[in-house]
Amino acid sequence: MAVGEYKPGLEGIPATQSNISFIDGQQGLLEYRGIRIEELCRYSNFLETAYLLIFGELPTAKQFAAFVEDVNYRRRIKYRIRDMIKCFPESGQPMDALQSCIAALGMFYPLADLHDASFIYDATARLIAKMPTLVATFHLMRQGNDPVAPRDDLSYAANFLYMLNEKEPDPLAAHVFDVCLTLHAEHTVNASTFCALVTASTLTDPYTVLTSAIGTLSGPLHGGANEEVMRMLAEIGTIENVVPYLERKIKNKEKIMGFGHRIYKVKDPRANILQELAIKLFDRFGHDPYFDLAIELENQAAKYLAEKGIFPNVDFYSGLVYRKLGIPTDLFTPIFAIARTAGWLAHWKEQLADNRLFRPIQVYTGRHGVRYKPIGER
Ligand code: SDX
Repeated sequence: MAVGEYKPGLEGIPATQSNISFIDGQQGLLEYRGIRIEELCRYSNFLETAYLLIFGELPTAKQFAAFVEDVNYRRRIKYRIRDMIKCFPESGQPMDALQSCIAALGMFYPLADLHDASFIYDATARLIAKMPTLVATFHLMRQGNDPVAPRDDLSYAANFLYMLNEKEPDPLAAHVFDVCLTLHAEHTVNASTFCALVTASTLTDPYTVLTSAIGTLSGPLHGGANEEVMRMLAEIGTIENVVPYLERKIKNKEKIMGFGHRIYKVKDPRANILQELAIKLFDRFGHDPYFDLAIELENQAAKYLAEKGIFPNVDFYSGLVYRKLGIPTDLFTPIFAIARTAGWLAHWKEQLADNRLFRPIQVYTGRHGVRYKPIGER
C-alpha cells in the first residue's frame, strides 16, 4: 500500500467521502445537501434543516410534523439525570456538564442494533431533543433554581430561550436564535465532526459518539472561540485600543480569536449573516458598543491579515448576537454543540452506512534497538 505524505493536522487530506455539506473556501460558499446556507436561513428553520442534514432531503409537511412531534416527545430529561446535574459544581464548565450528561444518557438507552433504522431514528430524535434541555437545566440548577419543563407549544428555538430565561422570548429573538442554530448545524469535516467519525467507526453507540464530539468542540481553536472573542472585546475595551491590541498580538504571533479558518480564505459566509442578525437585534433592543469594537477590529485586522487569507469566521459575531439575547458567555459553546448535534448525527449515519475503522499510520521519528537498562544503572 502506498504511504501518503504526512500533513500536520491532516491539512488538505480527505478523511472521508460525504454528500452532507460543501464549502468553497475561496468563494466563501456553504451548502447543506446542496442548498445554500443563505436560502436555509431565509426560508427554513433549525429543525427542518436538521431533518435535511440527517435524512438527506427536505421533509414533506407530514414528515416534518411527525419529526417535530417525535422531538418534542423526547425533550424532557429523567430525574436521575437531573439529580446528577444537582451534584455538579456551580463553577463547573457547561461543556463538561453537557458532555457528562450525554455520556450518562447512553446508560439509559443501551446500544441495540446499529443496523436497526428505528434505533438510529430514536437516538437521533432523542439527542436533538435533549441537548437544549440539558444546557438550560444545568444553567438554572447551577444558580440553585429548579429547572423549568420544556413547552411543546413553543418552537425548538423559542423553547430553549424559554427554559433558559423562564419566560417566553420575543418572536424576533426566537427567530434570530433559530437562524443561529441553522448557521452552526454543519460544516463538513471540522475537528469535532472528524472526532465523531472516528468514534462512530468503532461501532460504539451514538451517545458515546456525541460525547467525543462535544469534548473536541470545547477547545478555543474550535467551538470555544466564540467565548474567547467576547473576552477579547472586553480586554480591548475601547476603539482607541483596537490597533494597539492588534499590533501586540501580531508582534507576539498570537492568534486573533474569531479570525482565520483552515478552509475559508475569505470572510466566512456565516459571519456575514450573523452580522446582519446582530444589527436586527440592535435596531430592536438597543445597541451594543462591543459591536463597534468588532467592526473596527475587523477593519483594522484586514490591513495585517487579509493578504494571508485571514478574515472573521463564524465565531467572530455569534457572541454579540447571543449577548444581546441575554445568554451568558459560557453557554455560547454549548449552544454551538446544540446546533452541531444535527451535523454530528448526519455524519454518524453516513459513516455507519459504509463503515471502515479509522486507523491512520504515523511517520516514526523514534529510535530502534535500544537495550533495557536496569534502574540502578540509569
Ligand atoms: C470553528 O473547521 C471548521 O469548519 C470549524 C468551524 C465549524 O463550523 O466547525 O468553522 C468552527 O472552529 C471556527 C474557527 C474558530 N477558531 C478561532 O477563531 C481561533 C483563532 N483561529 C486560529 O486558531 C486559526 O485560524 C484556525 C485554527 C481556525 C485555523 O488555523 P490553521 O488552518 O491551522 O492555520 P495556522 O494556525 O497554521 O495559521 C496559518 C498562518 C500562521 O501564520 P504563519 O506562521 O504562517 O506566519 O495564519 C496565521 C498563523 O499565525 N493565523 C492567524 C490566525 N489564524 C491563522 N494569525 C492571527 N490570528 C488568527 N486568528
